[in-house]
Amino acid sequence: MHVAETVAREAGELIRTGREGEVSVAATKSSAQDVVTAMDLASEALLRRRLAELRPGDGVLGEEDALTQSSSGTWWVVDPIDGTVNYLYGLPAYAVSVAAVTSPAGTDPDPATWTVLAGCVVAPQDGRTYVAGLGQGATLDGQALQVNQAQPLIDCLVGTGFGYVAARRRSQARVLAELLPQVRDIRRIGSAALDLCALASGGLDLYYERGLQPWDLAAGSLIAQEAGAVVTGLRGQPAGEAMTVAGPPARVHDLVAYLEASGADQDS
Ligand code: IPD
Repeated sequence: MHVAETVAREAGELIRTGREGEVSVAATKSSAQDVVTAMDLASEALLRRRLAELRPGDGVLGEEDALTQSSSGTWWVVDPIDGTVNYLYGLPAYAVSVAAVTSPAGTDPDPATWTVLAGCVVAPQDGRTYVAGLGQGATLDGQALQVNQAQPLIDCLVGTGFGYVAARRRSQARVLAELLPQVRDIRRIGSAALDLCALASGGLDLYYERGLQPWDLAAGSLIAQEAGAVVTGLRGQPAGEAMTVAGPPARVHDLVAYLEASGADQDS
């Protein structure tokens, strides 16, 4: 936990101070709207350099660079800026996400099979630091976290997010349009890591999203779980790119049932 927090804080400080200057777009990814800023690249470079110093032999899976292999059996899964579009627009909901994971022997880190050992999400704009260790609970700035008690679906504030490709968005919009009348309201915060931390700290009652990448969910999923949430996929699958659903155990199945019935894990 200590290493995750140390490097996440350092990267957070880099991107917070970097936001005071001009934010330049360095590249695009899945669509022209899916941007990478120069600070995404600088933050990941810092994370990789510091992890190599502090944990030589561990591998790194990051959003902006190639997988580096592990000789120790531990990987660091890092998102140098989660919420890049918020960062670009000067909105505060962006974060650095760092997690330590182990994988079954001979396999690369994959949310379907990994075990997340520790995670830290830093929101540098307001300094909030979320930390969790497997079996050790989750904290926000040192205070223990606990998800909200299960409410009827109609009383739930539900977080979600959208991909950057039009075909996926069309299907996400269809699923959302049917869900909206069944819940209290919807939030689209713009950072999956912060969505999962909001769930852990009572700022959301439920969360779901299709399309999350390993770095979007590694640290946040442990923080949510250690705060008492179930984090799962649909149709008995673990959380991952097809679908991630999170919430208190007594309510998450209602959302899972709706998402399965509406085919939310497919693009139509
Ligand atoms: C994005 C954010 C967003 C989610 C997108 C992600 P990025 O990550 O987590 O909330 O809806 O699916 O790609 O690109 O800002 O690191």
